[in-house]
Amino acid sequence: METIHTIEWMKQTAREARGRERLIGFLPTMGALHEGHLCLVREAQRRCSPVVVSIFVNPKQFGPSEDLENYPRNFERDRSMLEEMRVDYLFAPSPAEMYPSGFQTMVSVEGLSERLEGRSRPGHFRGVTTVVLKLFEIVQPHFAFFGRKDAQQAQIVRQMTRDLALDTEIVVGPLVREADGLAISSRNVYLKPDERKAATVLCRSLEEMAQEIKRGERDAARLLGKVRQVIGGERAVRLDYAEMVDAETFEPLGSLGKSCYVLIAAFVGGTRLIDNALIESRPDLLRVSL
Ligand code: PAJ
Repeated sequence: METIHTIEWMKQTAREARGRERLIGFLPTMGALHEGHLCLVREAQRRCSPVVVSIFVNPKQFGPSEDLENYPRNFERDRSMLEEMRVDYLFAPSPAEMYPSGFQTMVSVEGLSERLEGRSRPGHFRGVTTVVLKLFEIVQPHFAFFGRKDAQQAQIVRQMTRDLALDTEIVVGPLVREADGLAISSRNVYLKPDERKAATVLCRSLEEMAQEIKRGERDAARLLGKVRQVIGGERAVRLDYAEMVDAETFEPLGSLGKSCYVLIAAFVGGTRLIDNALIESRPDLLRVSL
């Protein structure tokens, strides 16, 4: 694996790969790699060669009171994990390389970025789309891989690639969970032992909702009521939002009938966690994926 720190060298490497008619697969990350990331690496390797992984803790997507300073960083560990997986290139630019002084351009997907995560974290998605577009320009990927854990982020990036006619196809991989159901996240390391136990209530609430769907419930308000009731039973957890939205537009839905997400965000102590269920719903199919 080659580790690249400069934009110039990454661009040159990508140009050469494109010249050799290779399919470039790209997985952008903020490091602190875990099985959720590694699952996307494998998916990228199934479809593409070479595979580029980036590690960049993007300051522009953190709010002023968020955890930029404390965000877990372990570059050497990440690098050896990727090396072991035989990733071709690790792109790890410094903040000054990505945002030199005088940087002024921000990219935002309007509408989709303002709801749900965007409402709770103003400016977050603007930071994400700005860095992702810049990374796409540098890495020139044919395919870019995103996880369903951050379903809204994946949809916003997909919307950006459509709106700006980018040459990159977005692939969304499954949501990877711990053995007890907790969605794997770099932020889980913040949880104290009792909080870690309480945090499983997020996926438990989605499981109980899935049971209600099995019993025939289709009404969004009643299904979300179930989610709220289960989360409400855990004192250490404070729900931020629980919503059922159309899987494409992220507009709220009143009942099942189209493919949709049930998205939840909650504070467990001082840590904000998100989770979701994908509900594929057509006349011939009703499937809930946690
Ligand atoms: P990061 O949180 O490091 O996540 C990188 C990718 O891994 C994202 O697409 C995310 O959805 C995916 N991922 C994380 N946990 C996952 C899990 N449990 N299951 C499946 N996929 C998972 O998301 C970001 O970084 C940043 O916003 C970024 C896109 C890199 C832009 O800075």
